[in-house]
Amino acid sequence: MSDAVTDLHASVESFFASTFSTDNAVITEAVKRMLAAGGKRLRPRVTLLAVDASGGNALGHLHLAAYMELIHVATLIHDDVVDNASTRRGVNATAVDYGNRVSVLTGDYLFAWIFKNVTANYPHPVPHVLSATLADICDGEVLQLQARGDLDLTLGAYVEIARRKTASLFAASAECGAIMGGTGPREIEGLRAFGDAFGVAFQMKDDLFDIVADERSLGKPVGNDLTERKVTIPLIEALASGSGTFRDEVRRFYGGTTNEGIPAIVTGIERQGGLAATRAHIARFVERARMALEPIPPGPAKEELAKLAGALLDE
Ligand code: IPE
Ligand code: IPE
Ligand code: MG
Ligand code: MG
Repeated sequence: MSDAVTDLHASVESFFASTFSTDNAVITEAVKRMLAAGGKRLRPRVTLLAVDASGGNALGHLHLAAYMELIHVATLIHDDVVDNASTRRGVNATAVDYGNRVSVLTGDYLFAWIFKNVTANYPHPVPHVLSATLADICDGEVLQLQARGDLDLTLGAYVEIARRKTASLFAASAECGAIMGGTGPREIEGLRAFGDAFGVAFQMKDDLFDIVADERSLGKPVGNDLTERKVTIPLIEALASGSGTFRDEVRRFYGGTTNEGIPAIVTGIERQGGLAATRAHIARFVERARMALEPIPPGPAKEELAKLAGALLDE
């Protein structure tokens, strides 16, 4: 991180620590607890870099960046209810400490609180972009639920789910930063396309990590996608390798409710080339993200964005 970006990061953090508060004490506490637990703060970073890359003053848009992180936090609180996940950012998921009912209402409240502020303070089309993004996220999460256990899920359908549930917020973070930075339509479109491609690669990496990482470094459960019978890219690619024995094994596991078979499925995914194929797809979307930056004038912010995408190739 460059010094400039580090300072911006610190300013967003100080907004969370000092300024963020709602009228409801339990909701404020539950949200602050998630913020304090950590997280990579990627979405606010993308917003501030997009402002900077668009010729604007990033320091003047800290609130917008913070709203992007807060939308993300609200979706995480809901997502852990939907995915039955016990940990998040290295601490108990909100639902574990506060229950599902408070978690659902906290996420809803936070969305409404953000939109109340955004509609009052930002020009068209920023509120529209954010509303459309939230609809996409929910759409993606529901499509994913409907696709649970569907071993015929195509790569195209998987990418569409990833675009809606994850990439849409990265695309909006970049687009809104670009709009507020005051650049032209071609640059705004380029930054939005960057966020979209970056977000798909990011979700693919998250799905890869669900299989290969460990819970301590991830701060959330591993193997949860298999436990939840989600069909993600490593499995789609492993099934595409054509081994009938592997498909039968996967069919038995996905048709059942016990999880002892997970290590064998993980080994199978690796043997059938599912991990290598996923890495190749990540590289394709990283390249697409970098290409999307083509209309952006050279400078440190553009370089940081390209570096952010390139980091998805490291493990
Ligand atoms: C997790 O996002 C949810 C996905 C879209 C995969 P992050 O990996 O950015 O989560 P934090 O913010 O670092 O906790
Ligand atoms: C969630 O995807 C994307 C969201 C919109 C929150 P995942 O379900 O894979 O995210 P994690 O693994 O729980 O962070
Ligand atoms: Mg989840
Ligand atoms: Mg995941």
